[in-house]
Amino acid sequence: MIRVAVIGGSGYTGGELLRLLAVHPKVEVTYVTSREYAGKPITLVHPNLRGFYNMNFSQFSFDRLGDKADVVFLGLPHKVSLEYVPKILEMGIQIIDLSADFRLKDPNLYKIWYGYEHPYPDLLNKAVYGLPELHYEELKNAKLIASPGCNATATILAAAPLVASGLLETYKIVSDVKVGSSEGGAKPHEGSHHPERQNAIRPYEADGHRHAAEAEQELSLIAKRSVKVSLVPHAVSSVRGALASVHGWLNTEVSEMDLWKKTIEFYKGRKFIRIIRSNVHPYPDPKFVIGSNFADVGFAIEKRLQRVTMFSAIDNLMKGAAGQAVQAFNISRGFDEDEGLRLPPLRPA
Ligand SMILES: NC(=O)c1ccc[n+]([C@@H]2O[C@H](COP(=O)([O-])OP(=O)(O)OC[C@H]3O[C@@H](n4cnc5c(N)ncnc54)[C@H](OP(=O)(O)O)[C@@H]3O)[C@@H](O)[C@H]2O)c1
Repeated sequence: MIRVAVIGGSGYTGGELLRLLAVHPKVEVTYVTSREYAGKPITLVHPNLRGFYNMNFSQFSFDRLGDKADVVFLGLPHKVSLEYVPKILEMGIQIIDLSADFRLKDPNLYKIWYGYEHPYPDLLNKAVYGLPELHYEELKNAKLIASPGCNATATILAAAPLVASGLLETYKIVSDVKVGSSEGGAKPHEGSHHPERQNAIRPYEADGHRHAAEAEQELSLIAKRSVKVSLVPHAVSSVRGALASVHGWLNTEVSEMDLWKKTIEFYKGRKFIRIIRSNVHPYPDPKFVIGSNFADVGFAIEKRLQRVTMFSAIDNLMKGAAGQAVQAFNISRGFDEDEGLRLPPLRPA
């Protein structure tokens, strides 16, 4: 059994990790930390886990961490993970970081998008961007995995096949993401407090959302040229779920069938991608992935304008966070990538 620590276990991604790891056949959760709830039962914060955990949150300590864990999942805010990653790596412990602190390869981008100088630029190149559909081989034996952001995951998975096809004017795409309130984490603030969020359809950070940086990095790698992504998230009142509608323009006349073939080929063998092309529910819809690690992808062409809209629907806490982190962990350890993740989505959700 691989011993797992979840640091930041009282948060939403921490709770979702605990839910998945509780039934993962290859791991044992040995250490779960929280500053606020140290000494209190895990089920006090996560009552959905009653019957699965009979242990308390601990106060984090580097002291003898190696005696407790072989791998550490960090469910911490960005900038906070920076205080943990280098020391834990030095101890020879594998890290899966759900924050943004190691996702970008270019250290200069941290100043632009996150407002700080990255103190460990050398580690950025050692980290593997934990999107298995793009980095499966690099994830094998990875010691530091930077798990992607949820809006970025939805955007990249929607756009990747057609960006790769070379049939898009790839230098400029627009991703419109609708996302549920759990994206904002467990602590309420003005924008996420229930009465403020309920029934909202509200754009935010429309002048440039930081997940665009990840999407540009990854889509440029696929395109082998610079891709610019404008990402505009919208807060909607559902709790979970993210839908990316990514708009691009085709640079040549191409049949819809050809684009479907390219999409199917791009995701061949990928266990968590479902290509949606049906008469009844023709487009990906977060409602049909909630509780699972699936990303449903598809597209529509407006022939009059040669415009294509590429869609991806995910559960932001699963394929957008904890599920994807466990998937990447599985690959890093040589397990089946869907170990512990063979969960059909909930319905109704
Ligand atoms: N929510 C999503 O949909 C989503 C998706 C992808 C990635 N992410 C990323 O995942 C990370 C966690 O997100 P979340 O939604 O789980 O946030 P959250 O619900 O706010 O949880 C944050 C956790 O970090 C701990 N924490 C906060 N500040 C800390 C500090 N200064 N030192 C030590 N511990 C601290 C909190 O625990 P205590 O206060 O109890 O110590 C809590 O357990 C973030 O970087 C986020 O961007 C989130």
